[in-house]
Amino acid sequence: MSSPKKCAAIVVGAGPAGLAVVGNLLEQQLGKIVWVDPFFQAGRVHSKYREVPSNTKVALFQAYATATLPFRSVINSSRIPNAFTTMAKLDQEKTCHLHHAADVVRALSDGLVKMDQVYACRGHVTAANLDHTRSWTVRIKGLDAQDEVEVSTTRLILCTGSSPTTVPVPVAEDTVKRLDLDIVLKPSELASTISSTSSTTVAVVGASHSAILALLNLFDLARTSHPNLRIKWFTRHPLRYAEYMDGWILRDNTGLKGRAADFARAQLEDSALPTSDAGRFITKIDCAGGLGKEATQYQRHLPGCSYLVQAVGYTRDPLPELSVTGLALESEDLNWDSTFGGFTDRSGRVIPGLHGAGIAFPERVVDPCGNVEHAVGFFKFMKFLKRVTPQW
Ligand SMILES: Cc1cc2nc3c(=O)[nH]c(=O)nc-3n(C[C@H](O)[C@H](O)[C@H](O)COP(=O)(O)OP(=O)(O)OC[C@H]3O[C@@H](n4cnc5c(N)ncnc54)[C@H](O)[C@@H]3O)c2cc1C
Ligand SMILES: NC(=O)c1ccc[n+]([C@@H]2O[C@H](COP(=O)([O-])OP(=O)(O)OC[C@H]3O[C@@H](n4cnc5c(N)ncnc54)[C@H](OP(=O)(O)O)[C@@H]3O)[C@@H](O)[C@H]2O)c1
Repeated sequence: MSSPKKCAAIVVGAGPAGLAVVGNLLEQQLGKIVWVDPFFQAGRVHSKYREVPSNTKVALFQAYATATLPFRSVINSSRIPNAFTTMAKLDQEKTCHLHHAADVVRALSDGLVKMDQVYACRGHVTAANLDHTRSWTVRIKGLDAQDEVEVSTTRLILCTGSSPTTVPVPVAEDTVKRLDLDIVLKPSELASTISSTSSTTVAVVGASHSAILALLNLFDLARTSHPNLRIKWFTRHPLRYAEYMDGWILRDNTGLKGRAADFARAQLEDSALPTSDAGRFITKIDCAGGLGKEATQYQRHLPGCSYLVQAVGYTRDPLPELSVTGLALESEDLNWDSTFGGFTDRSGRVIPGLHGAGIAFPERVVDPCGNVEHAVGFFKFMKFLKRVTPQW
């Protein structure tokens, strides 16, 4: 791997967040940007969520794709038809499957990696050390493990993403097999993972977007190709929906939207489930009422299930080893602060030149009612980066 020894910025990750960072930094003409990812294929939106229906309107993907000058120049120089023209033909006010969004991110990435100011490294950032001169020395391992380089920079941006969270359950773990949430969100893979002939019960935990889509995908199988499939739905709170207020959205980041909201309203509410189509296959296990009640419900209803899938949020993927003058940064020394898009240590001091974005490092937002949420979504990342990157 031949790469510059010094550069203006190193961006780790080429999902929608890493791409948006590169677009914004290029606009500022800071100099060479080293961009590191093993694939440059839009991150998890392409690798895991292509079959997921979006919970944001097509118009917001379009707004993301045209938000920076370098993005627009890629679009303008792309041969027609392409991922942008395909997306432009969709109803802008409706949602779409995420393969459309993934293809736009891949096309933009293909364009940016060809630009002179971008040096794309296929590999992983494994470690980074900040020295007395406020410069980060960043170790990059190529896909061929022998291939390793060190590059220094004053700006290191972590856009490393998150994966499904799993938590322990209060029954012997060997009695039920774990089913990966990523598989359940991909109907084509789910259909071949679960037996279509033998009796199978899948326990689904959660009540937010991922959980509702998991229920929807399993229900679709049960009513078509997998008639012996049954679902137990472990949920500890009522269904919560995004609400469109005057100029803003209540529960914009946590409430159900799009297809998940339509399905939940029509089929999963307590008033609907006993008589709905979904209710023929899904049994709700009410886990509300505190940890004791929750544990009792698991102990009573989980044994006998063939699979357990937890849809209980996403956890940051492992970060590169980070150190300051050779001393490892502990987790207490790495506090994300989205007011400026950077990190502080345990004494509240800013860690120079270290930044983040994306699902792993989202913006903290407060709505007009005072509810605190994390802004996760393509256009939300873009809005956040427009605000913070000029200070980086
Ligand atoms: C199921 C689901 C559906 C969603 N639907 C929508 C939607 O409809 N609309 C919307 O706007 N948002 C949606 N989101 C939210 C968000 O857009 C996605 O989570 C998105 O994938 C986040 O992008 P990211 O770039 O932060 O992370 P990722 O997509 O996870 O990308 C991270 C990248 O970093 C790379 N990486 C990690 N560590 C290293 C390293 N050390 N060195 C080099 N590379 C590294 C990874 O290989 C990966 O390519 C959805 C999220 C989920 C979970
Ligand atoms: N395109 C789509 O439709 C789609 C699909 C999936 C995800 N997404 C996006 O991805 C992000 C993550 O969404 P998400 O739905 O996966 O998760 P999430 O919004 O982070 O919510 C996690 C949910 O899990 C619950 N939970 C946590 N621990 C639990 C436990 N031990 N037992 C039971 N429930 C538990 C939480 O409930 P409590 O409040 O009770 O803790 C919360 O409702 C969001 O930005 C979302 O918009 C989008």
